[in-house]
Amino acid sequence: MELKGKRLVLGVTGGIAAYKAAELVRLLVREGAEVQVAMSEGATHFVTPTTFQALSGRPVYLDQWDARMPNAMAHIDLSRQADLLLVAPASADFLARISAGMADDLLATMVLARDCPLLVAPAMNRQMWENPATQRNVAQLVADGVGVLGPASGAQACGEVGPGRMLEPAELLAGVMDFFAPKTLAGRRVLLTAGPTFEAIDAVRGITNLSSGRMGYAVAAAARRAGAAVTLVSGPVALDAPVGVERVAVQSALDMHAAVMARAAASDIFIAVAAVADYRVARPAAHKLKKDEGGVPAIELIENPDILAEVAALPGGPFCVGFAAESQNLEAYAQKKRLKKKIPLIAGNLMQDGFGGSDNRLVLFDDQGTHPLPPASKEVLARQLIEHIARLTGEIA
Ligand code: C5P
Repeated sequence: MELKGKRLVLGVTGGIAAYKAAELVRLLVREGAEVQVAMSEGATHFVTPTTFQALSGRPVYLDQWDARMPNAMAHIDLSRQADLLLVAPASADFLARISAGMADDLLATMVLARDCPLLVAPAMNRQMWENPATQRNVAQLVADGVGVLGPASGAQACGEVGPGRMLEPAELLAGVMDFFAPKTLAGRRVLLTAGPTFEAIDAVRGITNLSSGRMGYAVAAAARRAGAAVTLVSGPVALDAPVGVERVAVQSALDMHAAVMARAAASDIFIAVAAVADYRVARPAAHKLKKDEGGVPAIELIENPDILAEVAALPGGPFCVGFAAESQNLEAYAQKKRLKKKIPLIAGNLMQDGFGGSDNRLVLFDDQGTHPLPPASKEVLARQLIEHIARLTGEIA
């Protein structure tokens, strides 16, 4: 419930992407936001107000003459009660009208009369997007302090391919969450590792750790949301890169080590969440080992570099945070690991509490002592961890 208590007005203008706005309402409501939908006349040709009413639990406003507002001031009152006005999809025509300060329908009037921030999610044909007129209008809106989410590039409803697609609902939700998140790591560069590593035995087999990558990805998203520039060095996982995060995909611990060491000195904070294999195969076979040739293979293992300990030892290196997944004696093992790797902060969890699932239980250990966090989703825990890091690194009191 990251958006609990937040009041949003969602403006929907005419365009095929209007159907995605319905899913967006569902996602916003699921995060606890109160969503008031207002539609342009054009939008009602794509999706009915009933759909938005059912999803938001509120009657939808369609024009400024709506008699439900006691003072007949829908265009003013709707955005006055809001923490954020989001228009998704925002058509080329709508962007043109609001960049010129026009107030010729309910949505445009709301934009002009608002006293809350405005985000727009453009959605249009690629040539309409690339047209200098649209680019000029968007540049004007940005200069006026309007936030622009997207657009994405890809296949369009008209059959063409290019920029102009509205961002997906989950990406828009991330944009809204970014907007509300306190920017406790603004201007900081955060480097993370996440997921397992894969150590090849031969061309098709390998040694790996069980790790979904979800905790690391959640921490990367939370750091991004807190305003940091985030690079995520990730082992093989089945997750999309969080919006706005640069992902460097790697396989083995040696790959991960190289990718991290190339970037560590330029980072302010390093958070090692990856489940790195402790050992790799000394001489992986280039081809698939055959069962009937040479008997049971003896696999010689050699130790992998400890990426976190190496980064922690860099003179003037980043503030380092580790993770300790233990099956017992959490406090003793986590503290021991923290001191051995010489890192200021370690987040410990019992494997039986969090493995593969969406929830987890974390305990933070630092120089001040032990800070247990209440059991929560990995996203909420990630945000709390980032807040703790921001406090320790002096960004917030
Ligand atoms: O030593 P251990 O694997 O238990 O420590 C876990 C912490 O160290 C995690 O933060 C993990 O990402 C990091 N680590 C690492 N390189 C290794 C092993 C662990 O960065 N080779």
